[in-house]
Amino acid sequence: MAVGTLYKMILLYTAKVILLTGLLFIQNMESFTRFTGDKAAQYQHILAQATQICTHENNLIAVMANLSALLSQQFGWLWTGFYLVDEAANSLVLGPFQGPLACTRIPFGKGVCGTAWAEARSVVVPDVHAFPGHIACSALSESEVVVPCLGRDGEVKAVLDIDSDVFNDFTEEDAANLEQLCALLKEKF
Ligand code: SME
Repeated sequence: MAVGTLYKMILLYTAKVILLTGLLFIQNMESFTRFTGDKAAQYQHILAQATQICTHENNLIAVMANLSALLSQQFGWLWTGFYLVDEAANSLVLGPFQGPLACTRIPFGKGVCGTAWAEARSVVVPDVHAFPGHIACSALSESEVVVPCLGRDGEVKAVLDIDSDVFNDFTEEDAANLEQLCALLKEKF
């Protein structure tokens, strides 16, 4: 290879590195690498990243946005996101999410999300078609898990909703790990 070409390649590579580093610095972007391993190991990895995200930022919407992206990127689920409690309207209102368009509001006690809010507990749904009152935001959804996010006062402030296009995609293991993830938000409500 001619010295000139090599010199140009090195120059180009250096410029790319400087540009990317600059972008990361300016936008305070989080870097992400998909982790392979069994589910427990994947959650361990995700929870470590989620802790980092929550340590560096207190804005609830920003943190929820990145947590939705983190779960979506790692597990490739159909829909990952949050609904926030709107006490005045007695409903949940759509928050940050990744995935197809979703219902904007869910009344208290309705659907899987409204049930998780009303009963302040995680709800694992192996087959959404068999869940009475399930709200179908996407026709592709087959199973779902919803976890309540509690504030400092122990009240439900939001729910984390995850949909899969595969039946039986969630277990109590998912619920337990996602509860840990939601607990990281406690101080931010
Ligand atoms: N299926 C949910 C509604 C929200 S979407 O799935 C994003 C429910 O029944 O509450």
